[in-house]
Amino acid sequence: GYSDSMNCRPISKHESITLQGFKHACHAMLYARSEEKLFRRIPVRYAVLMQMRFDGRIGFPGGFVDLQDCSLEDGLNRELYEEVGCTLRLSDADHMCSHVTDTPQKLVTHFYTKELSLAELHQVEAGAVSAKEHGLEVMHKYAIAMGLIRVPLFTLRDGVGGLPAFFATNFIGNARDELVDALRHLRLINEERLASLPCAGTSPQ
Ligand code: GTP
Ligand code: MN
Ligand code: MN
Ligand code: MN
Ligand code: MN
Ligand code: MN
Repeated sequence: GYSDSMNCRPISKHESITLQGFKHACHAMLYARSEEKLFRRIPVRYAVLMQMRFDGRIGFPGGFVDLQDCSLEDGLNRELYEEVGCTLRLSDADHMCSHVTDTPQKLVTHFYTKELSLAELHQVEAGAVSAKEHGLEVMHKYAIAMGLIRVPLFTLRDGVGGLPAFFATNFIGNARDELVDALRHLRLINEERLASLPCAGTSPQ
C-alpha cells in the first residue's frame, strides 16, 4: 500500500488543511452495482469509472482545488462537472482517505467514492461524451480528459486478461493505490484476488 512509498503517507483531511505550502487535489471513484455479464458469461459485478488522462495515464476524475476559493467538495464537484459533465454533488460523507506527498510537488490528494445506481452511472457515461455539445467547449479545453473507462474487475481464463492486465497500465500519482484501497474497503473484490494482483502495492512513477 501507501506505506511502500516513503514520500506518501495517509493524513486526516482535518490535519491536511492546516499544512502550509501544499496544493490540494480531489478525485472521485464513481461506481455502480451491475448485473451485466461479459460474453453473457462473466459477471461484471460492478461498473467502476476511471478516466484516460491527457497525459496517457489513468486516474480518477477530479483535480486541483484552491482552498482559498472554495471547499474541497465544492472544488471536486466543479472538477467532476468540467471533466465528466456530471452534476452529481459529492459531500464530506463520500470522503474515503487523504494522502500527503512532497515529491514531485507538495501535494495533498483527497479521495472520494460514490455508489450510484447503474442507470445513474450510464447517464454519467453518456453525459461525458455529449457534454461538449451542451456548451461546455470552453471548460473542456481545460479539462483535457480523454474519456471515461471502466475498470475490469474480472480475470479471464488466461489469468492475465481483465484486472491483472489493467493493473499493468500506467496510473497517475497514487491512483492505483486509491483503486486498491477502494476495492478492498468497499468489498468490491475479495482479499484473495487483491493479493494475487501484480504489484498491487506499488505505483510506478
Ligand atoms: P488542470 O485543470 O488541467 O490543471 O488539471 P486538474 O485540475 O484536473 O488536475 P489533475 O486531475 O491533473 O490532478 C492534480 C494532480 O493530482 C496531478 O498533477 C496528479 O499529481 C494528481 N492526480 C491526478 N489524478 C489523480 C488520481 O486519480 N489520484 C491521485 N491520488 N492523484 C491524482
Ligand atoms: Mn483532473
Ligand atoms: Mn483543474
Ligand atoms: Mn494541470
Ligand atoms: Mn482545469
Ligand atoms: Mn480538471
